[in-house]
Amino acid sequence: MTRGRPRNEEPTVTRRPSPCLLLPLLLACAFGAAAQTAAPAAAASDADGAYVWNAMQGEKLQALSATGDAARGEITFEICQGCHRAHALGRPDGSYPRLAGQHGTVLIKQMTDVRAGRRRNDKMLPFIDKHVTSPQDIADIAAYLTKLPSPANNGHGPGTELARGEKIYAADCASCHGKAGEGDAARFYPRLNGQHYKYMLREMIDIRSGVRGNSNPQMVEVVKKLSDADLDAAADYVSRLPTGQR
Ligand code: HEC
Ligand code: HEC
Repeated sequence: MTRGRPRNEEPTVTRRPSPCLLLPLLLACAFGAAAQTAAPAAAASDADGAYVWNAMQGEKLQALSATGDAARGEITFEICQGCHRAHALGRPDGSYPRLAGQHGTVLIKQMTDVRAGRRRNDKMLPFIDKHVTSPQDIADIAAYLTKLPSPANNGHGPGTELARGEKIYAADCASCHGKAGEGDAARFYPRLNGQHYKYMLREMIDIRSGVRGNSNPQMVEVVKKLSDADLDAAADYVSRLPTGQR
């Protein structure tokens, strides 16, 4: 059962601001992916200095350590549905990504990166801002979204370059995003199966150009050597993989 109301218009922030939790800043932790990649990115977008990809600190760590309550997350997610749609399916035209079935770690990284300004999203920020949602809310939303089914009605590409896309995906992407596009929760690698083609293509271009500021530096290196047509083919291919594969 879903309590959320699907809305056709972008919503306004109505939620009561939560007090900001000032927990101690933890600089390092034993979390699996903490030691993953620490190559400096082109731009330093953290307020406190050098940018390290996926640094395990601050409220990201708080949200990852909290036990998410999916029932509470479902209620909190009502403020997000105007854009991300009911059941978090996003829009096939790629304007809003699907969040259903994404890994909790990935969702928490992306939400806290937007809050901290590491990933710019001016439209969404008023809804996900620190004054609107707390680290516990973030954990709750992630717990709710990760369990939602991701049906096979996501947007696809033109279907004209699928053999090329398959080759590129196997050579350059599957090592991180998985053969079935299932991603890797422990490493914060997003699930791609079930995601909308147009959204993925836009993100790949933004990751390549650096517009998406929080990107994994190894992925940036990989996509830098690919043309627009390569990215298009890979996005189309992966958008057609069976959805919901874990
Ligand atoms: C005004 C529209 C809007 C609202 C409201 C909104 N979002 Fe978003 N969200 C977006 C857009 C647009 C993107 C994709 C940004 C891009 O293209 O880089 C996005 C991206 C995301 C992502 C990253 C997905 C990924 O695959 O990397 C997450 C997670 C997310 N939103 C969660 C939320 C949550 C939780 C809420 C409610 C608290 C919310 N959003 C409210 C527009 C919105
Ligand atoms: C080294 C591991 C790695 C490789 C190789 C890699 N990616 Fe990624 N990819 C990531 C990570 C991590 C993210 C999430 C961005 C972030 O926060 O760092 C991502 C994000 C994405 C996104 C955006 C997903 C979303 O939900 O917003 C798409 C689409 C994508 N990758 C496609 C590809 C494709 C196609 C290839 C091959 C051409 C590729 N990636 C290669 C690690 C990788």
